[in-house]
Amino acid sequence: MKIGISGASGQLGKSVLSHLTRRGGNHQLVGVSRSPQTVAAPAEGRFGDFDRIDSLVQAYAGLDRLLVIPSAELAPGVRSAQLRAAIDAASQAGVPHVFLMSVAGTHEASVPSLGEAFWVGEQALIRSALQWTILRMNYYAQSMADEIKMSLGGGVLAGLGDERVAYVSRDDIAAAAAGALLGDGHSGAIYNLTGPASITGAERASIVSEIVGKPVSYVTITVDQLRAGLSQAGLPAPVLDAMTDIKTSFVEGKFDIVTGDVARLSGLRSKSLREILAAALA
Ligand SMILES: NC(=O)c1ccc[n+]([C@@H]2O[C@H](COP(=O)([O-])OP(=O)(O)OC[C@H]3O[C@@H](n4cnc5c(N)ncnc54)[C@H](OP(=O)(O)O)[C@@H]3O)[C@@H](O)[C@H]2O)c1
Repeated sequence: MKIGISGASGQLGKSVLSHLTRRGGNHQLVGVSRSPQTVAAPAEGRFGDFDRIDSLVQAYAGLDRLLVIPSAELAPGVRSAQLRAAIDAASQAGVPHVFLMSVAGTHEASVPSLGEAFWVGEQALIRSALQWTILRMNYYAQSMADEIKMSLGGGVLAGLGDERVAYVSRDDIAAAAAGALLGDGHSGAIYNLTGPASITGAERASIVSEIVGKPVSYVTITVDQLRAGLSQAGLPAPVLDAMTDIKTSFVEGKFDIVTGDVARLSGLRSKSLREILAAALA
């Protein structure tokens, strides 16, 4: 079987390829991105640009299964156009089974919501792929670790209210994606790749406090205060908008879902936020 990963040079794509390689089997692996030279052997690197559908049709030729990992592009409307192009290209190339990496809580949404791209991508996939599987990832525990490192000095972690998030390790998402790509019986399934528990802001602060051995509290701030703080830290407007969108979805419950899908697909236990933070903050 020939398995392709589009978005192969990114952190998640590299990790999926690494899990596929480790699991062995008589499969050929293809990594697609605009920098195919970064794809590690034994996978074959192919050039494919989400903004140039012709390049994707060529890159996806001969694949039996394809995982589309969206780019990290934040400009409104760009990622949905890219996902539509990737899914169209997979149809034109005759790929029998397409897997899409999407996001927890995806539902009908329009620009400028970050969720628009995933809604458009999922709908395009369901409409046009011969066989499809959707993998909805929860929020990366590693992204939260990076955020905590930036605010740890003040002993205060902030959020927009009563947030609940089932933080998941990026590597566990990759292991689950590899399991799904290699397995059978996943056509028409929507999986939720989550950590083992939904964590509140106060619980998150308490975990961090135990790890670093000093008091850390959780405070609720307003959207204006969040944006002012991020702006003061020198972050550009698109990042401010994305962070506001993400933090709002934390309190809306979009990421408040816990499943056993990581273990079901990967055969591995899903790591906790505490484990990821202990390693990251050590
Ligand atoms: N759930 C979460 O908590 C969370 C957190 C962070 C990120 N994410 C999302 O997860 C996805 C993967 O994240 P990541 O950490 O792997 O991102 P990353 O390291 O930034 O990788 C992005 C990948 O997209 C590819 N790419 C970008 N523009 C492209 C284009 N025009 N055509 C083809 N490929 C393109 C890049 O390859 P080339 O540049 O080589 O083309 C790279 O392989 C992204 O959608 C990101 O937004 C989710």
